Amino acid sequence: MNDCRIFQRALRRLRFGVVNGAPVESVGILGSGIMAGGIAEVVARADMRAILRARSEASATASLKGVEKGLARQVEKGKLEPAERDRILANISTTTDLGALGQCDLLIESVVEDLETKQQLFREFDAVTKPTAMLATNTSTLPVVEMAKVVKNPERVCGIHFFNPAQVLPLVEIVRPITASDETISRAADFVSKIGKEGVHVLDRAGFIVNALLFPYLNNAVRMLEDGTASMADIDTAMKGGCNFPMGPFALLDLVGLDTTLSILDTLHASFGDDNFAPRPMLRQLVEKGRLGRKTKAGFYEY
Ligand code: CAA
Repeated sequence: MNDCRIFQRALRRLRFGVVNGAPVESVGILGSGIMAGGIAEVVARADMRAILRARSEASATASLKGVEKGLARQVEKGKLEPAERDRILANISTTTDLGALGQCDLLIESVVEDLETKQQLFREFDAVTKPTAMLATNTSTLPVVEMAKVVKNPERVCGIHFFNPAQVLPLVEIVRPITASDETISRAADFVSKIGKEGVHVLDRAGFIVNALLFPYLNNAVRMLEDGTASMADIDTAMKGGCNFPMGPFALLDLVGLDTTLSILDTLHASFGDDNFAPRPMLRQLVEKGRLGRKTKAGFYEY
């Protein structure tokens, strides 16, 4: 690195307080959905403190209950010692106060896929977090740079994208907006390795790697059902048996959530203008009827 770049980097650190690649020990997780609870569990398992922040006491409690239920199942199956469950739960606390996340080394937002809501949250992060905290979004498709640009120090913002169920799936995408510093990306990679996940690096393009490839496939499965080419059950059986996928496209759509799927496809379609991403009418109809998948006990299938 030449002298000029070293000087500029040092100046930036002084101005913004991005001091070092200090390891992450406490993580604030924003949100109360399935992903937020799953991320909290993953963090707590790796012996870091997880503070789950929800907007209401009721949703914070419901989120924690979801984690407790999953761990209880593991204990029942004999896959987890009760002492280990207690250790994980002791590492998780909940709050409704954003200020309680002030000392966290890393914040991961996992709230609704709505850019304005996320941007507002990032503005609030600026007011409460310490300047060395890393700020991450678990967005599936929204541009990370749009969140980075609303904070005073966009260098510390990146995407840390988990997959559902976060407790089980090994992959995390580390998303680099053009604004992120090398330190931020390297700290994010360290964090991902500390939680025992496999990290892949990707630029800040809609859908990153996985969703850009997965969602046209899911959308085309719906098209095939609409066309009457095959039944839902046979399409699912075909993709499980023919490709060794753990679940077929309709079971997966119900797991991901049809509202989430719709919003991901809308974003991909708006970004790339490719009709392959245009959400199929049947998907919209199910969402309009409130059949959102497993979380509402009905989607393509009934639960
Ligand atoms: N929470 C915690 N643990 C869970 C779980 C959950 N929600 N679901 C399953 N598990 C655990 C089970 O307890 C079990 O663990 P043990 O073996 O230790 O007991 C293990 O996972 C396997 O589960 P099951 O035996 O019950 O069932 P399975 O073998 O059919 O696996 C599955 C279930 C893990 C969901 C598997 O079917 C799978 O991997 N499906 C594909 C999921 C996928 O593709 N996800 C990506 C979605 S896209 C996305 O997330 C991106 C986005 O931005 C929207």
